[in-house]
Amino acid sequence: MKEFNRILVSAALPYANGPVHIGHLAGCYIPADIYVRYERARKKDILFVGGSDEHGVPITIRAMKEGITPQQVVDKYHAQIKKSFEQMQISFDIYSRTTSPVHHKTASDFFKTLYDEHLFEEKETEQYYDEKAKIFLADRYITGTCPICGNPNAFGDQCERCGSSLSPEQLINPRSTLSDAIPVKRKTKHWYFPLQKYEEFLKEWILNGHKEWKPNVYGQCKSWLDNGLQSRAMTRDSNWGIPVPLPDAGGKVLYVWFDAPIGYISATKELTPNWADYWYQNDTKLVHFIGKDNIVFHCIIFPAMLKAHGRFVLPDNVPANEFLNIEGEKVSTSRNWAVWVHEYLQDFPGCEDVLRYVLCANAPETKDNDFTWKDFQDRNNSELVAIFGNFVNRTFVLMHKLCAGKVPVWHEAIRDEADTELVRQIREAKTSVENHLDQYKFRDALFTIIDLARKGNKYLQDKEPWKKAGKETTTPENQQLIDNCLYLCLQLTANLAILINPFLPVTAKKMLHMMKVVDRMLEWEHAGKADLLKTGYSLRAPELLFRKIENEEIQAQTEKLHRNAVKPNSAEPVQAAVVIQEKKPEIQYEDFAKLDLRTGTITQAEKVAKADKLLRLEIDLGYEKRTIVSGIALHFNPADIIGKQVVVVANLAPRKMRGIESNGMILMAEDESGKLHFVSPEDKIGEGSMVS
Ligand code: 2FM
Ligand code: ZN
Repeated sequence: MKEFNRILVSAALPYANGPVHIGHLAGCYIPADIYVRYERARKKDILFVGGSDEHGVPITIRAMKEGITPQQVVDKYHAQIKKSFEQMQISFDIYSRTTSPVHHKTASDFFKTLYDEHLFEEKETEQYYDEKAKIFLADRYITGTCPICGNPNAFGDQCERCGSSLSPEQLINPRSTLSDAIPVKRKTKHWYFPLQKYEEFLKEWILNGHKEWKPNVYGQCKSWLDNGLQSRAMTRDSNWGIPVPLPDAGGKVLYVWFDAPIGYISATKELTPNWADYWYQNDTKLVHFIGKDNIVFHCIIFPAMLKAHGRFVLPDNVPANEFLNIEGEKVSTSRNWAVWVHEYLQDFPGCEDVLRYVLCANAPETKDNDFTWKDFQDRNNSELVAIFGNFVNRTFVLMHKLCAGKVPVWHEAIRDEADTELVRQIREAKTSVENHLDQYKFRDALFTIIDLARKGNKYLQDKEPWKKAGKETTTPENQQLIDNCLYLCLQLTANLAILINPFLPVTAKKMLHMMKVVDRMLEWEHAGKADLLKTGYSLRAPELLFRKIENEEIQAQTEKLHRNAVKPNSAEPVQAAVVIQEKKPEIQYEDFAKLDLRTGTITQAEKVAKADKLLRLEIDLGYEKRTIVSGIALHFNPADIIGKQVVVVANLAPRKMRGIESNGMILMAEDESGKLHFVSPEDKIGEGSMVS
């Protein structure tokens, strides 16, 4: 096995287009954090990097939905996501963001290096264009029917029902997700990365070199490689993202999946001046924790980019999890079928470890799994409370009652088989947890620890030290039996703290406090030993590690989930997309000042014969009356708009429409559904007032 001298762990950069839900935590952040805490406890040189993915279509779509700018979107959600991770004790060494200047430069330089080495293909192709939104439609901007499974809502880059990777051209009956318009084809130039040139290298590296990867990861890679790779555009037509660093690339940005994984490099750069050791040295173990929808990007595309660049290490492992469903249904952010982490933390204050426990115990490590509130309650009440918490609590209560609150003496002469067996079980558990964690089997590792606590309960139950204590005095022989039992139970408690620490760090801290010992005791090398707490050392009173979760709390959560979910066919709670029209070129103030904008009131309105869309309006500008022909007939009933004060472009050259001379134009705003609204002063003001 390869020897590594340092470890670099990344967890997928979540899109800063919404809060994180428990599926995110179960998918990659909790396993990544467990792994990192474990390796830190083993005193490995390890860094844990993460950050928000702030470019790409998901951000621009959210900005349109909320009617704010992409920058405002990412500022809002980056802060929220970062806080949720902190509260859930995800111990990033850095949580950065891809809008950071360091990242922009790192990603630009990366692109430029590949470009200068002639590693891109420059291609002008016809791509779908939305004439209404005036935007090219890549990736998630376009939907249609999946040619493989018939899903009518497949995206331009992927069908979420069958998991196939698609290109917009493959969609049947494509539609714009922005305006619902049927897109047309238009020419545009982009830079493509020829993945097929790296196919042989990838086959050798993954299929022969990494047979130890999890079957779900290895299997997906194999299927991609067996199907053959193709060139993939690494740039997009958009105003939001990292500008393509080439002179003739105005209006084009780096593809979000080109820049996002480079974010791991940028974050390391921001974290430490020694960043290059982690990325350039062959003895670095690079591990990417991700969810299954990110496998192709981390196992195929990013490694091919790194290989092409030439300087960087490749991942040693990509332990991707499958998806976590909620109460039997797929998580859907648009349907609000999710358990949001910030809401959980509000509803269950101080229970961050309980969620960490349940999401690890039920992690979708090998297949999709289901989170149910009932299971959450059961695991808390019958595993954390009844097994782990119960053992620690009983040990402390008995130690205070029967051993004067001090670690008792160990009497070797009366050691029995059960004692020896328990010591062996402690040692064995440590090795077993290590073996599981080294293979990224977090559930098995956690079950081993719970099982060890269960064995502790059985040992205590079999020994019954409370029965050995006399009413007034206890015989010396019995006191020795009590001492040995509680000595070992306390050593087991200390071991449980060390072993559980990567999984439940808050609980481990509480246990340290009770044992009056410092953080150093949690170092992994101490695990497996049965002499951690020294005889005579006085310990604090027990505090409850976990509380029972009541039926009412679970019922409230299930009701909330169903109440807040958007029912099929009902209106979505989120606003429909506001179409952000392509920006117009900059003008000078003088250009704007040429407009003579005035208030005026509609005094007459009637339909223009044989013209569905036109209304003939008489407008009172105060200083004169005007006839204006306006294309608003489909939106307003003529009788309803008489008396409405509007804003008129008063110096527009006259124009004949259907034989009527129109003298000016009225200002209108179009909403996300295409409906028109008058632009009017808030309160009625004098006719002919200047608008500027
Ligand atoms: O799927 C996602 O949420 C992506 N934002 C993950 C990016 S991971 C990495 F490449 F940055
Ligand atoms: Zn499909």
